[in-house]
Amino acid sequence: MNKYPVWIDCDPGVDDAAAIILASSLKELDILGISTVAGNVPLRTTTANALKLGDLVGQPYPVYAGAAGPVVRPYLDGTDFHGEGGFGTASLPESSRRAEPMKAWDALYAAAKAHPGTLELITMGPLTNIAIALETYPDLPKLIHRLLMMGGSVTRGNRTPCAEYNIYADPEAAQVVFRSGIPVVMCGLEVTELAYILPEEWEPLKDSPSEKARFFHDASRFILERNLENGHPGFCIHDAVPVFYLAHPECFKAEPAGVFVETQGELTLGKTVCDLYTDKQFEVKNTLVVLDIDRKAFLTALLNALEH
Ligand code: RIB
Ligand code: CA
Repeated sequence: MNKYPVWIDCDPGVDDAAAIILASSLKELDILGISTVAGNVPLRTTTANALKLGDLVGQPYPVYAGAAGPVVRPYLDGTDFHGEGGFGTASLPESSRRAEPMKAWDALYAAAKAHPGTLELITMGPLTNIAIALETYPDLPKLIHRLLMMGGSVTRGNRTPCAEYNIYADPEAAQVVFRSGIPVVMCGLEVTELAYILPEEWEPLKDSPSEKARFFHDASRFILERNLENGHPGFCIHDAVPVFYLAHPECFKAEPAGVFVETQGELTLGKTVCDLYTDKQFEVKNTLVVLDIDRKAFLTALLNALEH
């Protein structure tokens, strides 16, 4: 079986945690390294959490810390949903391992150089590290096969009526990414809000013999409850979607489109402006916009990852 060489950039984060647990279980993926960025919680916490997650899944992935916030605007956290520790009301033991000394963007570039043209970059948080890597290493775009992101949306927003958090937290960085020439697979809210676990699917995990399953159950409780209050059918496991797409694209529907980011608007800041449904089109189709998912297949893979 051909394995994809994979780099994960993340801000764990409850759904980041589920995504890393899923990624660790998929035989199609060879995770070379994990880089962390300030996002849901500050950099110090996302980095500690990435180390803890490697211990939880029994895969001591090297972890590389990146940016403590956007380059040109203040840091915006997500502790309102993910809690101060990033795992809701759950916690994991401190890792005995430490992050590598190399910065995230330097480590990402080294991995891309080692896998020229084949590296699959999965992003699960604000795109600050990726933008710094692109500004530092002009040859990076031709070294990366695809950037599969959880981020953006065609018509929705979860941080403002126009913008999804990962883009809104650092719109300038996201613009650098969409303008870079790297083929983007955008797993935005249209598809990630279909990637949910229902309460009746989630509840049995609390009594699982698997520590991963019990951790996921505890960590996702707060967000699940908030989602149910807001009319969602369950807990949307946003960040696991690009992971599952990489291994099983046959479980998705997607369309090519032009996508660029609003960085000036007062009401529209952080909107991924997409020409999928518009008469006026951008010059380029720089993005594959993912729109639908086989939720049952996704959930089966996630539950398998949690339970084994
Ligand atoms: O909008 C959802 C995204 O924001 C996810 O990556 C979640 O972890 C938060 O970072
Ligand atoms: Ca995230």
